[in-house]
Amino acid sequence: MTYRVTKAVFPVAGFGTRFLPATKSVPKEILPLVDRPLIQYAIDEARAAGIREFIFVTSRGKSALEDYFDSAPELETSLHEGNKGHLLDLLRQTDMDSGAVAYVRQQERRGLGHAVWCARRLIGDEPFAVILPDDVIDAEKPCLQQMVEAYAEVGGNMVATMEVPAQSVSSYGILDVGSTSIGATMPVRAMVEKPRPEEAPSNMAVIGRYILSPDVLDNLEDMRVGAGGEIQLTDAISAEIAARGNVNAFRFRGRRFDCGSKSGFLQATVAFGLARDDLRDEFLTYLRSVTEVQEPASKLRAV
Ligand code: G1P
Repeated sequence: MTYRVTKAVFPVAGFGTRFLPATKSVPKEILPLVDRPLIQYAIDEARAAGIREFIFVTSRGKSALEDYFDSAPELETSLHEGNKGHLLDLLRQTDMDSGAVAYVRQQERRGLGHAVWCARRLIGDEPFAVILPDDVIDAEKPCLQQMVEAYAEVGGNMVATMEVPAQSVSSYGILDVGSTSIGATMPVRAMVEKPRPEEAPSNMAVIGRYILSPDVLDNLEDMRVGAGGEIQLTDAISAEIAARGNVNAFRFRGRRFDCGSKSGFLQATVAFGLARDDLRDEFLTYLRSVTEVQEPASKLRAV
């Protein structure tokens, strides 16, 4: 059994309703964090982890995503003629090897488990990663790379985890990892999708990075709808605990931003903006000035 992971699935079929009206015509994954679309962060993380094949599960209205990973010859010629080499370098970061990107459509939105199942023929019979681009993780060593290294030791199935406030458990897949768990890799005893706080086995939440065995795809074959009336990836992984007991949680090192929410997106924008040498000084001066005044911009405008 090989523990090498070279394929990653990016479920990007959602409506992005929390970002309407922007997402009426722009896929959520194209919204920029500073100046790079969310999806570019996910791709870079996957590349750092050794991923060579990128499988996007898309839906109607996501063609901007496909264009983003295509070459842009007119733009390149114009930058070349204008001696804009630094911008050409930036563009090259979006280059993908021919044949490295595949798109499969999820015709009906039936949940994350169903989205991953839609990619089953492209995944085949090997372990694969799943990256949810909404979860942006800032880390010295990219999160998926940390996981791939740990996975090479233990195999099976692996989900990224972190502690969340007790009142937020109903937004996540929640793990039972046993009260004595220490260290980064912990065997999972049970997992439940979006439990009520009083029913949650812990406050250890699944964060959107997974390394899964093809058995999970088999489980998805006859999965019934779960939480929220959707086919849940959590339930298909949970079935592996019952069948083979080979699911591990991985406590990653890094800062996670929930870019599926407006507040999380704004926090990520501030953090990534401050991390940029070309923006830090001016941005910090501005942030200091607004935190001193402690009034939202709209109120300031009203006075
Ligand atoms: C999904 C998963 C959930 C996980 C979360 C992480 O939920 O179903 O188990 O904890 O991603 O972001 P969603 O946020 O898509 O509702």
